[in-house]
Amino acid sequence: MSNIRVDVSEAIAQLPIESYQGKINEVHTRLHSGQEKFAGWVDYPSTVDGNLIWQIMTTAWKIQKQCTAFVVIGIGGSYLGAKSCIELLQSPFYNEFFAKERNLPKVYFAGHHLSSVYYHELLHNLKKEEVCVCVISRSGKTLEPMIVFDMFKDFLKEKYGENAKERIYAITGTSGPLREEAEAEGYTTFDVPDDIVGRFSVLTPVGLLPIAVAGIDLEAILQGARQAEVACSNPDLKENECYQYALVRHLLMEQGKDMEIFEVYDGKLRYFTEWLKQLFSESECKDGKGIFTASLQMSTDLHSMGQFLQEGKQNFFETAVIIEDITYDVMLPNGGFDDVKTLHQLNRVVRESVKEAHIDENNTPNIVITLPEISAYTYGKMVYFFEKACAVSSYLNGIDPFTQPGVESYKHKIRERLGIVK
Ligand code: PA5
Repeated sequence: MSNIRVDVSEAIAQLPIESYQGKINEVHTRLHSGQEKFAGWVDYPSTVDGNLIWQIMTTAWKIQKQCTAFVVIGIGGSYLGAKSCIELLQSPFYNEFFAKERNLPKVYFAGHHLSSVYYHELLHNLKKEEVCVCVISRSGKTLEPMIVFDMFKDFLKEKYGENAKERIYAITGTSGPLREEAEAEGYTTFDVPDDIVGRFSVLTPVGLLPIAVAGIDLEAILQGARQAEVACSNPDLKENECYQYALVRHLLMEQGKDMEIFEVYDGKLRYFTEWLKQLFSESECKDGKGIFTASLQMSTDLHSMGQFLQEGKQNFFETAVIIEDITYDVMLPNGGFDDVKTLHQLNRVVRESVKEAHIDENNTPNIVITLPEISAYTYGKMVYFFEKACAVSSYLNGIDPFTQPGVESYKHKIRERLGIVK
């Protein structure tokens, strides 16, 4: 099976491989030393206990039988991975039609915002469903998901009485208020590993349980991640495209290109770019440094932000994440054009035209990351590839990627205002 390919030839004239190999060696050794407090994700795909994966799968099968609607409560790294995977790999009409056809529960995400209307409507509509809830919080004390979890506990108690607890699944750190509650109440529980922070936790129970409930093949995801673990562990900068991407980001930032715009041409990748934004921003934007990341979905955003790309302030570079072979292609009506017969081919023409317009007129640096196809196997590779690129590029910029003091600071202010001590 093909690998993820990275083309930086239209972003930088020549990669300064020799002058950066020493720095890359340092960063590589640091990440692989086993001494970094939060680098548990580096060898997680190859070292994860098979029994844990089996427990996740059997729990997912139980949930699939127990409910028709599965609510995943979490914010940031505690939901974006699962959301991005389900959006990429399942039908775009999963909740509307597909779940019912395949006897799978519909999947709803909650706890990542405080929209009253959303929860009012969701709770109202869930009355006619059989419901299970999975609350995910590493700290076990983030306000938004915890408040929403309380709302769902009340809902489940009203609907199922004493049996409500059997419908609650908790994924949390090895200590903290949610851990204490889960143990006291006897919820089925999985651990967020102590050495992995939220945005790097997709391939742990945090992402894997909801993904499995949506009927996606965990073993294929993990195989892809293992393959990427090997490919991205080659310290040789000439060969490691993940490190090349990390280096190009660093070099572009040094040239004043401090904004990275992820562009996708298929809506199925939209939430993957939401996860990318979180991964990169929360990891590397600190101490007044870092690259601002944004994401655009084409062709939609060509008719709004396309104007900015073409004629706005040129302090950005573009990273297109594209899919080589599409699962289902659609023939164009009336025979299409001379060399363009399908929608996927037409989408490629749009992308090439956008790239040409930006490069010809503005010399905008363009990175192209090509995914071989949409599959669980490729998803596993993508997650690992970008996690590693993010960590390496943060270290090159002199930043510790595994802290998030800026995010913690707003959480702290809320607790202060509400007089919550914990
Ligand atoms: O990546 C991170 O660490 C954060 O985005 C967290 O996932 C997010 O803040 C939620 O935190 P918690 O899982 O503790 O509720």
